Amino acid sequence: MDTQNNRTELLRKIKDEIIHGKDLPLYAERVQNKVFPVIGEGSHYAKIMFIGEAPGKNEAETGRPFCGASGRILDELLNSINIPRNDVYITNIVKDRPPMNRDPLPHEIESYSSYLDRQIEIIQPQVIATLGRFSMVYIINKFGLGSQLESISQMHGKILEAQINYGAVKIIPLYHPAVAVYNGNMKEDLKKDFETLRQFNH
Ligand code: URA
Repeated sequence: MDTQNNRTELLRKIKDEIIHGKDLPLYAERVQNKVFPVIGEGSHYAKIMFIGEAPGKNEAETGRPFCGASGRILDELLNSINIPRNDVYITNIVKDRPPMNRDPLPHEIESYSSYLDRQIEIIQPQVIATLGRFSMVYIINKFGLGSQLESISQMHGKILEAQINYGAVKIIPLYHPAVAVYNGNMKEDLKKDFETLRQFNH
């Protein structure tokens, strides 16, 4: 039965597996730097799930997704459409911080992505909003929409329709909030794209 407890229990199991995941490619890095994996945060019944790339420094130090400079932009964008952060679920493909904030490597994405796949199936969002190029490419390929893949500057703000075992899901690629940290024009683009999300939080 799909009870709150059941979802919480299944998500806790994912957390435990990641915490003890000694074979994960960035586990040794995590232990050496005395930091945390970032599993995800938010409503287990979220209609909208945001998927970023990988934790940065602040996130690895706290174990919370999007709590640094990019997180402040994400919060501002959510505020701009009156969606409380607690209503949505926020996670990343890669659950540990890549050294020096480098891009995640293909084998890292492959190793961590099964956790993300399970998080999607447990939370059953109606909308998956990808943040940045890495999660866009992963999700679009996962849903068999690879033939529609273009650059993020072409794809951002579009609504793609897909099917998953629990029903229909919309995929909305968005720029990564980090692009707006020093660029006000990009923030305006992001704000426009976030307007597309407003209708889906009912
Ligand atoms: N960038 C990401 O992609 N994810 C985070 O959690 C923080 C910054």
